[in-house]
Amino acid sequence: MAENPAYPVGLRLTGRKVVVLGGGQVAQRRLPALIAAGADILLVSPEATPSVEAMADAGEITWERRPYATGDLADAWYALIATSDTEANTAASAEAETHRVWCVRSDDADQATAWTPATGHSEGVTVAVLTTDARGRDPRHTAAIRDAVVEGLRDGTLVAPHHRTRTAGVALVGGGPGDPDLITVRGRRLLAEADVVIADRLGPRDLLAELPPHVEVIDAAKIPYGRFMAQEAINNALIEHAKQGKAVVRLKGGDPYVFGRGMEELHALAEAGIPCTVVPGISSSISVPGAAGIPVTHRGVAHEFTVVSGHVAPDDERSLVDWPSLAKLTGTLVILMGVDKIGKIAETLVAHGKPADTPVALVQEGTTAAQRRVDATLATVGETVVREDVKPPAVIVIGAVVGVGPQTSA
Ligand SMILES: C[S@@+](CC[C@H](N)C(=O)[O-])C[C@H]1O[C@@H](n2cnc3c(N)ncnc32)[C@H](O)[C@@H]1O
Repeated sequence: MAENPAYPVGLRLTGRKVVVLGGGQVAQRRLPALIAAGADILLVSPEATPSVEAMADAGEITWERRPYATGDLADAWYALIATSDTEANTAASAEAETHRVWCVRSDDADQATAWTPATGHSEGVTVAVLTTDARGRDPRHTAAIRDAVVEGLRDGTLVAPHHRTRTAGVALVGGGPGDPDLITVRGRRLLAEADVVIADRLGPRDLLAELPPHVEVIDAAKIPYGRFMAQEAINNALIEHAKQGKAVVRLKGGDPYVFGRGMEELHALAEAGIPCTVVPGISSSISVPGAAGIPVTHRGVAHEFTVVSGHVAPDDERSLVDWPSLAKLTGTLVILMGVDKIGKIAETLVAHGKPADTPVALVQEGTTAAQRRVDATLATVGETVVREDVKPPAVIVIGAVVGVGPQTSA
């Protein structure tokens, strides 16, 4: 039956009847793709897993709670036969043959008229991997090949050189806190497709070393800004390169919209008529404490966390932060850009009622090989920072969550 290789094809199932026999794990795995394909799905099964039942409850499939009966496949275009009863499966696949309905069988691929490939998707393509004959079928092998191809397409390591999809304009990409593995899949792919990358000092700098030689990597801190402000010079550099038709990635640390000036860049690009896409990133405000064993919330300990910029001192007239109110909160305070001002910040919090023995942790260069954690209290943090020579970038966590991990210093 299966000496010849299977003929690969993509079924267009919108509005077409597909019958699924059996509501167990196989149906649970296959149904989402059939639903996504727009099929008109009839499930015939006395029982179903809770997930399959939820699909029926949501109206995504029609479920008849009964065993298979002859005639069920009569007007189907396609059938998935996956009951736990081999006899029923055999009878159903015979019926499928009679009615010329392509069918897959979960219990006996040799008796099926179709096989389900291992599938995955990446930006406009579906990758489907089939083995050439049923006897040599090894689902783990096909799944591994599928994974390798999809991952390669997603992270840009597998590129069709003449059909490289390039995102026109600028992508503001949140690169995460520094560990190159902590960028999003989309960010990684856009980076692989870039002609020009304008990068901040923070973020996954290691990824820049992997870019092909033709990619122009510009250090945002080194853009000459003459009569402009630094930010304006960066905006101009983004606009100039995009106007030359290049795919530009603005690689930022953490998330572009958390003290990242992402919206300013977006506005400047919009004014210049340059299309811009924004890719969220893992913010250091949550991930860096986490990397040092500190959860920003913990059941029974902190029901809120507040992320604050500490770049200006509490008594500075430019400060927009209501420190007296923050002193009254019982949850976690996460301070970014606060190393220089932490002494003053701690004094202000204590002056407004926060207990002086509130635990504080400073996590420097989190998620990188140089990560370092220094612990203190509000009373001691000012002198601890100086004594321990804590340097930016660091995330400062204030609150009882500092002490809930299995170890409190690293
Ligand atoms: C200009 S803000 C940018 C924040 C970024 N957009 C984010 O979402 O993480 C820079 C500050 O983020 C914090 N930061 C960023 N990456 C860090 C890291 N790997 N370790 C410690 N702090 C980090 C520091 O407080 C640093 O001064």
